[in-house]
Amino acid sequence: MILKDKVAIVTGAGSGIGQAGAAIMAREGAHVAVADRNAEGAAETVAQIRNAGGSAESLILDVTDDISLEAAIASVLARHGHIDILHNHAGAQVAGDLEQVAVEGFDRSWGLNVRAHFMAARLVMPAMKAQGAGVILNTSSSSGVLYDREMIAYTTTKHAVIAMTRQMAGDYARFGIRVNALCPGWVDTPFNSPFIAQMGGRAAIEAYVRDKVPMGRWADVGEIAESILFLVSDRSSYITGQILVVDGGEAVV
Ligand SMILES: NC(=O)c1ccc[n+]([C@@H]2O[C@H](COP(=O)([O-])OP(=O)(O)OC[C@H]3O[C@@H](n4cnc5c(N)ncnc54)[C@H](O)[C@@H]3O)[C@@H](O)[C@H]2O)c1
Repeated sequence: MILKDKVAIVTGAGSGIGQAGAAIMAREGAHVAVADRNAEGAAETVAQIRNAGGSAESLILDVTDDISLEAAIASVLARHGHIDILHNHAGAQVAGDLEQVAVEGFDRSWGLNVRAHFMAARLVMPAMKAQGAGVILNTSSSSGVLYDREMIAYTTTKHAVIAMTRQMAGDYARFGIRVNALCPGWVDTPFNSPFIAQMGGRAAIEAYVRDKVPMGRWADVGEIAESILFLVSDRSSYITGQILVVDGGEAVV
C-alpha cells in the first residue's frame, strides 16, 4: 500500500471523480476525509470505502464557506495530528459567453473553482510546513489548457487554477510540499449536465465526444483515479508544478 498511514482530505468526494479518487487513496492505505456539501453523497463514499476495508470520515460543508472550511480542516488535524494530502476537487461550470454569464455566476465560479482551492491550501499549509512534507493536488480541467466555446467563467477559472498551482509549487517546494494540477477531459458524471444542456442533449454530447476526442470515448472515473494516485503518492516524488492532462488526446489536436 503506497499511502499507508497518510491522511487525505478530498473536496467534492461525494460523487464522480472525487469519489473514485477518495476510494483509490483509501485502497492504498490512506485515511480519507470525504469533504462534500452533499451529505448523502459523502455518506455513500464513506460506506464504499469502509465496505472495502478502508478508513474514511465525512466532512459536510460548502467549501466556499471559509469558516466551515477552516473548522473542518482544523478538526481533521486535531483528530489525526497530520494532513498529508489535500485534493482540491470540488468545482462547477457556469455556461455562457461574456454577455450571457451573470456576474453572480462568474463570481460563484471564481469562489468555488479558484478561491476555495486557495483557501484550503492556505489552511493546510502550516501543518504541511511543520511536517516538512505534503502534497496538494488541484483539479483544473482540459479547459485549463484549451478554450471551450461559450464557457468564459469555466475556462478562465480553470486556467487560473494552473497559474495558482505553479506559483504555489515554486513557493513551497523548499518546505517539502509538492503541488500539481489534474486536467481531466470528458468524464461522464453529473458534473456535465450544464454542458449537455448547452449542447442540446445527450445525443449531441455523445457525438461531440466521438468526434473531438481522438480516443473517441469518455474517460472512466477509474482512469482518472489512477492519475490522482500517481500525483498524490511518492510515485511522483520529484514532480511539482506540473499539469497532468488526462483527456484521451483532446488537447493534442
Ligand atoms: N466530469 C468531467 O468531465 C470533468 C472534466 C474536467 C474537469 N472536471 C472537474 O472535476 C470536478 C468535479 O467533477 P466530477 O466529475 O467529479 O463532478 P460530480 O458532479 O460528479 O461531483 C462533484 C462533487 O462536488 C460537490 N460540490 C460541489 N460544490 C461544492 C461545494 N461548494 N462544497 C462542497 N462540495 C461541493 C458536489 O456535491 C459533488 O458531490 C470539477 O472541479 C470539474 O471542473 C470534471
